[in-house]
Amino acid sequence: MNVTIAGGHGRIALELTRLLRARGEMVRGLIRRPEHADDVRAAGGEPVLCDLETVGEEELAAAVAGADAVVFAAGAGPGSGAERKWTVDYGGAVKLIAAARAAGVDRYVLVSSIGADPDAPGDDVFSVYLRAKGRADAELQASGLAYTIVRPGALTDDAPSGRVALGEDVARGAIARADTAAVLAGALADARLAGRTFVAVGGEEPIAEALAALAG
Ligand SMILES: NC(=O)c1ccc[n+]([C@@H]2O[C@H](COP(=O)([O-])OP(=O)(O)OC[C@H]3O[C@@H](n4cnc5c(N)ncnc54)[C@H](OP(=O)(O)O)[C@@H]3O)[C@@H](O)[C@H]2O)c1
Repeated sequence: MNVTIAGGHGRIALELTRLLRARGEMVRGLIRRPEHADDVRAAGGEPVLCDLETVGEEELAAAVAGADAVVFAAGAGPGSGAERKWTVDYGGAVKLIAAARAAGVDRYVLVSSIGADPDAPGDDVFSVYLRAKGRADAELQASGLAYTIVRPGALTDDAPSGRVALGEDVARGAIARADTAAVLAGALADARLAGRTFVAVGGEEPIAEALAALAG
């Protein structure tokens, strides 16, 4: 499998790159800063310079061409204002939908967020973030692509536990970025998870079993 990750230098993205390479898959990581290229290479990926906020649709389609799946793992980050929630978290994810379609890539796995809601009330930056994420999710759900939307709880840099709780109604909680990456890797490998949207938090169930239960 050939996977292109938008936001390829993110912490989840780099871990996902390592996991996919370890099982023999090819990974392209789209990054916006040349100085991040070596980190992507060190994780086993091929870096491609691509700023999701400024790239044109054709150029983005060319960057994902040949992939079997795309992953959106970019994010404006906690230090950013409301505007970049729209240009990155929403705009980048939606541009990637158009690029995947144009390039004939059917599978799209999106890193969303617990609480994502297109109608989340409030004007504070976090509420805008939840709306931006929720609207990106809704556009992907309506896109006709074989999507899987993973909505992690609060991310930590803890060592992976390998155990999670996955589902539409699981209680709020935290999850290690490394466990989130493992959920994404598992989702990419299971076509039965196409069309599914679920929350992911730390829990008791081994990741493979939790994914299989959702898929079944
Ligand atoms: N923090 C939480 O608790 C939480 C909870 C649920 C979901 N999430 C979501 O989880 C996702 C990934 O989390 P993470 O911790 O792995 O994030 P991260 O380490 O902050 O990585 C995000 C990546 O997106 C990249 N990016 C930003 N703007 C870009 C642009 N215009 N073009 C290309 N790349 C761009 C960043 O690159 P630069 O270094 O160049 O900026 C960075 O490498 C995000 O979508 C986030 O919203 C977070």
